[in-house]
Amino acid sequence: MATVEKTARKTADIFDKCGRYTAAREMMGRGLYPYFQPIEASDDTEVVIRGERKIMVGSNNYLGLTHTPYVLERAREAMFRFGTGCTGSRFLNGTLDLHEELERRLAALMGSESALVFSTGYQTNLGVISALVTRGSVVIQDRLNHASLVDGAQLAAGELVRYAHGDLKALRRALERNAGANGILVAIDGVFSMEGNIVDLPGVVELCEEFGARILVDDAHAAGVLGPNGGGTAEHFGMQDRVDLTMVTFSKSFASIGGAVSGPEDVIHYLKHHGRSLIFSASMPPAAVATVLACLDVMEREPERRARLWENADYLRTGLQSLGFDTATSETPIIPVASGNIEETFVFWRALFDGGVFTNPVLPPAVPEHSCRLRTSVMATHTTDQLDAVLDAFGRVGRQLGLR
Ligand SMILES: Cc1ncc(COP(=O)(O)O)c(C=O)c1O
Repeated sequence: MATVEKTARKTADIFDKCGRYTAAREMMGRGLYPYFQPIEASDDTEVVIRGERKIMVGSNNYLGLTHTPYVLERAREAMFRFGTGCTGSRFLNGTLDLHEELERRLAALMGSESALVFSTGYQTNLGVISALVTRGSVVIQDRLNHASLVDGAQLAAGELVRYAHGDLKALRRALERNAGANGILVAIDGVFSMEGNIVDLPGVVELCEEFGARILVDDAHAAGVLGPNGGGTAEHFGMQDRVDLTMVTFSKSFASIGGAVSGPEDVIHYLKHHGRSLIFSASMPPAAVATVLACLDVMEREPERRARLWENADYLRTGLQSLGFDTATSETPIIPVASGNIEETFVFWRALFDGGVFTNPVLPPAVPEHSCRLRTSVMATHTTDQLDAVLDAFGRVGRQLGLR
């Protein structure tokens, strides 16, 4: 008993760090805190925050499908047919015929044998990587991969190896060094979420084939955006038959929430029975699944939406560049604007926000030190007037703050 008391007295309070964390409160005090802005109303390309309208260039709603009447109606029907939630895991009482229909449709879009729907994209990466990369196996990742791929590796019993962004020589060295492993998975973003550049998929696939490694492509920002049918990075490069696994989220082009992985039938079957984030979490709600199915219908029927998305992306990127801003390696609807250090980024964000433009400040650890940026992203439904208003605001703020 005495020993327990002694130990208890010595133990630090696990909450101590919370009281010491002041950085965010300091920014709030100065009116520069950009996060958790409560949106009161939204009509897709514009939102209302504290009574003021802002043009939304911070959303991943690439195809502008969140407010499409057909999509809303399909979501409503599903909610009235099945109720508001599934109240259980896919594994037990949480599989609807809608989940299975979605899996068939996604497998067809990705050119795969099979697919498996999870409750979020984040959980998809956690489940897939932790189930496949077991003790003695290795997962090799580009250093700028999304956090969910990294977290999946941290949950896995195997080893995580990272290489410098886009450096195929470094990838080759990593493959050589780990040639004796009990299986290698190379996991990469198809479109890098903070840079907006497309992975050199042919280069990565060739290396994987040479070393007998398997490849997982995270197509969160590529599905619906890249490829003639919106099939993503592999479709864009015409190499769907050479990519082992493709992961997608529904929180971007598909106007919903959820995620999926597609690939060979036996791998999907294995993941169904070993993916802990699938088995131990409730499934995607009916309205969310129906939303994705409806988005797939619209994608098939209206390819002009994707064409318009790319026109809008080119328009905004070229406009920002001609104002003198640095959009780095962007080549997709994700267009980051270099914004200096953390302080400068917050001031830049606030001036644009007050000028009626919603952007997302991106700071370390989401991006490397000294490369803060305001991340803008374009939708198919932005009008040219809206994009011009965004460019006007950037130009005005850039001049005021002496940026560019
Ligand atoms: C590249 C990438 N992968 C995975 C995810 C996770 O997706 P979700 O938002 O569906 O959990 C995201 C979302 O930000 C992402 O950008």
